[in-house]
Amino acid sequence: MLANGKLEVQGTRLRAPYPAYASRLRRDVRLISVAHSANSEYTFTSFANLDFYRKVNARLLDLAEVGKNKRIVDLGCGTGAVTRLMLERLESARQTVIYAIDHSATAIRQAIAELGDRKNAVVNFIQAEVQNLRTAVREQVDSIVYCNSIHYVPDKGKLLDEVRDSLRPGGTLAFNTTFFEGSNPPESEAFYRRWMMRSLRILVKEHGLRPGKAEKTEARRQLSAEGYANLLREHGFDIEKAEVVPVEFPLEGYLDISEFKDFIEGTFPGVPLDKASDSLKRGARQAFEDLNITFVPRNWLNVVAVRA
Ligand SMILES: C[S@@+](CC[C@H](N)C(=O)[O-])C[C@H]1O[C@@H](n2cnc3c(N)ncnc32)[C@H](O)[C@@H]1O
Repeated sequence: MLANGKLEVQGTRLRAPYPAYASRLRRDVRLISVAHSANSEYTFTSFANLDFYRKVNARLLDLAEVGKNKRIVDLGCGTGAVTRLMLERLESARQTVIYAIDHSATAIRQAIAELGDRKNAVVNFIQAEVQNLRTAVREQVDSIVYCNSIHYVPDKGKLLDEVRDSLRPGGTLAFNTTFFEGSNPPESEAFYRRWMMRSLRILVKEHGLRPGKAEKTEARRQLSAEGYANLLREHGFDIEKAEVVPVEFPLEGYLDISEFKDFIEGTFPGVPLDKASDSLKRGARQAFEDLNITFVPRNWLNVVAVRA
């Protein structure tokens, strides 16, 4: 244990006080450093395993031809769903190293639990801020994949500098997001109004709670696809591929995203997670029923950019 309370694991085994994870750790999945925190609910895991979401991310990995690379970063890896998709695509897995990075210790522990049975490549999990990528991964890599997280970062230019310097010349950054200007088609607006109205009513009338006032979350300050392209060029990238893909977002997606801490806190700040989550889930069900719909249209932006 390090002085700062972080757990450091060298070699292949994770020692007590983490026996549950230690038993699942294999020699090919190494935990570099994770701070001690209690296991908690409200992670991204159930949403990340939805079929439509897997397809969204698989599309990006295929566009980026990630499987051909030997040194890959899964930036903002969450609970490991994208890491798993990478492992499925590796052409020469035995020679490949994946660095899976997230600042959430809970998410990383869950990722280790989910991926512990994989044997075909080395996966190094690192708990770090994405903004500190160069410190976290000291070698230059072939590919950096950043799924559904870039919208969280306040200073995207600074992050792109960090990403560029972490790539070998000619290496690729692939990212996707559904929080950009243009992600919500006009015909989806009635759903979001109805969802929030229904959820707020449940929160107030049944739980006797009101959300606090919050800073506008980064995910709500959105760049357009063109804005991302310009920013990438300014920071030393050439755009190789960029596309906006329409996706049918199902009710299960809204139910599962309503169990994700970051989403709950951004939507109903200051409300206990269980009450906020319950209100959001029931509000989503009611909105689908009210509008008699089976999905909500939404757009995903996929970008593959090359270090110039
Ligand atoms: C929406 S989840 C996406 C997870 C995964 N990439 C996927 O698509 O399934 C966003 C993840 O980014 C992580 N995250 C957000 N801001 C971060 C930061 N500044 N540094 C490191 N991780 C961050 C969160 O902890 C979360 O696991």
